[in-house]
Amino acid sequence: MSKKNVKTNLLNHSQAKVKLLGEYLKRYLNVISNDGYTKEINVFDLFCGEGLYENEGEGSPLVIMRAVKDIHFKNVSKSEFIPKINCFFNDIDSFKIEKVKSTIKLKSLYYEYFGELKFSNIDYKDYLQKLINKLNALKNEKAFIFIDPYEYKHIKTSHIKNLISNNKSEVLLWLPTQFMYRFESNGTPLALKDFLEEIVPFEKWTSSDSVWGFINQMKEGFQNKIGDNYFVDSFTIQKDESTVFCLFFFSPHIRGFEKMLETKWEIDKEQGKGWNYSGNQPSLFFQDKTNPLEENLSEFLSKATKTNGEIYVFTLRKSFLPKHTNEILKNWQQTSKLDVILKNGQKARKGAFYINYRDYKNEFSKVTLRLK
Ligand SMILES: C[S@@+](CC[C@H](N)C(=O)[O-])C[C@H]1O[C@@H](n2cnc3c(N)ncnc32)[C@H](O)[C@@H]1O
Repeated sequence: MSKKNVKTNLLNHSQAKVKLLGEYLKRYLNVISNDGYTKEINVFDLFCGEGLYENEGEGSPLVIMRAVKDIHFKNVSKSEFIPKINCFFNDIDSFKIEKVKSTIKLKSLYYEYFGELKFSNIDYKDYLQKLINKLNALKNEKAFIFIDPYEYKHIKTSHIKNLISNNKSEVLLWLPTQFMYRFESNGTPLALKDFLEEIVPFEKWTSSDSVWGFINQMKEGFQNKIGDNYFVDSFTIQKDESTVFCLFFFSPHIRGFEKMLETKWEIDKEQGKGWNYSGNQPSLFFQDKTNPLEENLSEFLSKATKTNGEIYVFTLRKSFLPKHTNEILKNWQQTSKLDVILKNGQKARKGAFYINYRDYKNEFSKVTLRLK
C-alpha cells in the first residue's frame, strides 16, 4: 500500500488501536459518571485526524463520540444525575477538522445536552500549555487525553507527567515503537535519542534483543520517570512478524488502571499483553508453561506476609486482574499451601481473599495472607 493510502485508510492495526480506545472509554465513562462526585468529564483528542477514512473506517473522534453517546443514553435510563461530557478535538490540519465536524453531524453523534463539543486546529505544542493550565484548574471534573501522533518527535515524558500530575487525568499514548526499535538497533537518530534518553538515561539503556524487551524497558522507564504514585501499562498490537505497535496508558488512579487492564484482558483473552489483529493467534506468552503471575506472587509472598490491599496493588502492577490472583490463591488454599487470617486471628472463610478495589479502599488489611 502506498504511503498516501496508509494515511487515508484506516488500517487493521489502527482499528485495533481505536478499538482499545473505545472499549476503555466506555468503561471509564461508566465508572466516572457514576462515582457520585464528578460533575463534568473532559475528553481530549490532541491529534484527532480526519474521523472518517476513505475505506469508511472510523478514527478516534468518531469512536470517542460513539462512546459518549452510548453512555449518555445508558445513564439517562438509569441515573438521576448525569455529568456533562465535553469533547475537544484538535489537529493541525484544518481540512481534517472540518471533515470531523461534518461527519459527527452527518452521523448524528452529538447532541448539545451531552456537554460541549469544541474543535481547534493548532500545533500540539501550543495546545499543550493551555491544556495543562486548564487541567490544573479542574475541580469536580475529570479528564481523559488521547495522544496519537505520527511521530515521536512531538512527545516528551515530561508532557505526560504534567498532564497527569493534577491527579484528575488519564492519558492514552500511541507510539510508533516499531520504528523506534529498528532505530535502536540501527543507530539512533538525534530526535529519538533525546526521547529515549528522557525515559531511560543513556548509560542504563540496554540493547534489547526483541521489540518486546524494548517496550518493556520503555514501560519501566516511564514508570520510574513519573513515579510510584502513578500507574503505567503498555498494550501491544502486532501488525506482522516484525512490526509491533504500542499504546502506553498512564493513570493517577488505581481504579482507572484496573479498568484499562480489564479492557486489555477482554481484547486479548489469552494473556492481556498484546493482541494479534488477525485473530486469536498464539501470542507472546503462548508457550509459557509456568504462569508468570503465580511465580511473581509466590516470590512476593515468600518474603513476608501480605495484606489483601497489598496483593490487590501487586496484582495490578503486574498487569493482571484480581480474578487471576484469586484462582491462584484458591489453588494454593486447596493444596494447603496458604493461610488466610482475619484481624482477630481466626482463619478467614475458605475462598475469601478480599482482593478487590472496595476492600483495598475500605479494608486494606482485612486479611493477612501467608505462604506455609
Ligand atoms: C496518527 S494521525 C491521527 C489519527 C487519529 N487519531 C485516528 O484515530 O484516526 C496523526 C495526526 O496528527 C496531525 N498532526 C501532525 N502534526 C501535528 C501537530 N504538530 N499538532 C497537532 N496535530 C498534528 C496530523 O494531521 C494527523 O492527522
